[in-house]
Amino acid sequence: MKKYKIVLLSGDGIGPEISEVSKKVLKKLSKAHNFDIEIIEKLFGGVAYEKYGNPAPDETLIQCKNSDAVLLACVGDVKYDSLARELRPESGLLKLRSALNLFANIRPVKIRKSLIDSSTLKKNIIENVDLIVVRELIGGIYFGNPRGQIYNIKTPKAFNTMVYDSSEIERITEIAIKIANQRRQKICSVDKSNVLEVSQLWRDTVSNVMSKEKRISLSNMYVDNAAMQLVRDPAQFDVILTSNLFGDILSDLAAMLTGSIGMLPSASLNNNGPGVFEPVHGSAPDIAGKNIANPIAMLLSASMMLKIGLSEHNAAESLENAVDKVLSKGFRTADLDDGHSKVLSCSEIGCKIIDEI
Ligand code: IPM
Ligand code: MN
Repeated sequence: MKKYKIVLLSGDGIGPEISEVSKKVLKKLSKAHNFDIEIIEKLFGGVAYEKYGNPAPDETLIQCKNSDAVLLACVGDVKYDSLARELRPESGLLKLRSALNLFANIRPVKIRKSLIDSSTLKKNIIENVDLIVVRELIGGIYFGNPRGQIYNIKTPKAFNTMVYDSSEIERITEIAIKIANQRRQKICSVDKSNVLEVSQLWRDTVSNVMSKEKRISLSNMYVDNAAMQLVRDPAQFDVILTSNLFGDILSDLAAMLTGSIGMLPSASLNNNGPGVFEPVHGSAPDIAGKNIANPIAMLLSASMMLKIGLSEHNAAESLENAVDKVLSKGFRTADLDDGHSKVLSCSEIGCKIIDEI
């Protein structure tokens, strides 16, 4: 029997609730599909800061490095906003991504038929949406130097640096090519090369790498236009290839096409070693502890983990199908309620999904 060791980081806010559901679902899948999964839970984010004064303790990072995959719920809380930047939960997340060299963030945006009326956009605009955001994750303005604040002057200043070298752009482009080849062979590279030098290098490097790819069609789009196109005609996109900051913004925008950000999974990968699989949404401290959160983005992240991280394709598919069955029966969490649905709690919808596996 195949045996996997995964690290579960349930983090902050709604994290523990959606993680509880994910654990039960993974146990059921492992029985149904005949593999063994050891789930090691570690502190990460605000909870790790509370206990160790560090949102990404070494012990947690080491366990993650030695695992087959990492499943992460979410981190953050407004109560940590006044901490020094390096102590905040978000910095822990950036440290984890960087420590595992997770340069490729994959965010698939797929409309689930039964949720077509939950989107704020019209049905005819979103019905054929099936796109993937490929976001560079450990470079760009998130990590660029110099960065800082100067407060001891009359008018305080702060600055960050958006920087890429061509090798960072090349490796993320190669990932986008791999993905596009398994899909509709279209890549739209998003930048701001009409203003930024770093974006000009992005555009030139992507074009260079792509020139050997005869099967794939490449287009380039400025990020402001891309934001507009994502709400005007999102079905035009297949693979969106972009930098760290632009990908962050566009993926939240794209998430809402599906009706709720509570539906969007992601995978953060490198070319070898464990990936981190996590929902795109945050920790929603306003609804934490109420058992009303939507666990589906985390379950779909678990499905990406099974497929990409563990090569358990059948288990991944059976989880996706179980989610679709439950939704098609009209069960929803509160965020997806359209007024006619059967609204369930986080744990209840988890049980329904487990019953369908
Ligand atoms: C995301 C999040 C993170 C990011 C934050 C929490 C640091 O918004 O994964 O999209 O900006 O990358
Ligand atoms: Mn984000």
